[in-house]
Amino acid sequence: MHKKGFIFDLDGVIVDTAKYHFLAWKRLANSIGVDFSETQNEQLKGVSRVRSLEKILEWGNKSLSEGEFMKLMGLKNNEYLSYIDQMDDSEILPDVSKTLDFLIEKEQAIALGSASKNATPILKKVNLLEKFEAIVDGNDVSKAKPNPEVFLIGAELLKMKPENCIVFEDSVAGVQAANTANMISIGIGEKEVLYEADYIFKDFTEISSEFLEALISGDINKQQKKNVSINN
Ligand code: BG6
Ligand code: MG
Repeated sequence: MHKKGFIFDLDGVIVDTAKYHFLAWKRLANSIGVDFSETQNEQLKGVSRVRSLEKILEWGNKSLSEGEFMKLMGLKNNEYLSYIDQMDDSEILPDVSKTLDFLIEKEQAIALGSASKNATPILKKVNLLEKFEAIVDGNDVSKAKPNPEVFLIGAELLKMKPENCIVFEDSVAGVQAANTANMISIGIGEKEVLYEADYIFKDFTEISSEFLEALISGDINKQQKKNVSINN
């Protein structure tokens, strides 16, 4: 039997929370006189809360005391949590549950690999927690994506070699982290943004069971990237 490790990012892959991070950061940034575009926001995806605020301050050429920095991170998180509070399983992105169930039925190893410190409560809220054999989140890592730490810990917990793992990611930093970890990177989103990924799909509705089976069997792997047009 073939077995692979499937590692899912959370925000923007499993649930549509990337929009809430954007709204909360935007309001926070505006409150200190900084603005940023949706293109700049791509750089905030996948990276830690601390790194996100550092980037916003860089864009606005601002510096803060440590106390102010902590306060602003708290304000952002409180607003984010107020959105999360309203969430239910209708915010699971299309065909994510179907994909998870397919992989579980095929007895694959499944982990979460997220930068978020809010990952476990969100998974509980949308009733997906029990689908994951291992959870690695922002509380478990010291190095933010694009550092591969989060995915390497995930592989270790699943007892899988990195080269036998497949990562689903919506962020540039996350795709880079998966590539550095020598895992197959599957971008979920726009080709123009996620072009460093081995394969790119708009969302899980575009990922066929044949594609998943080929990942499981090893017929599709990182080296074949240039030759495979299955995602085009
Ligand atoms: C990532 C998001 O998953 O988690 C980032 O893409 C976010 O936008 C990061 O900043 C940290 O999340 P949290 O919930 O710990 O603030
Ligand atoms: Mg994400």
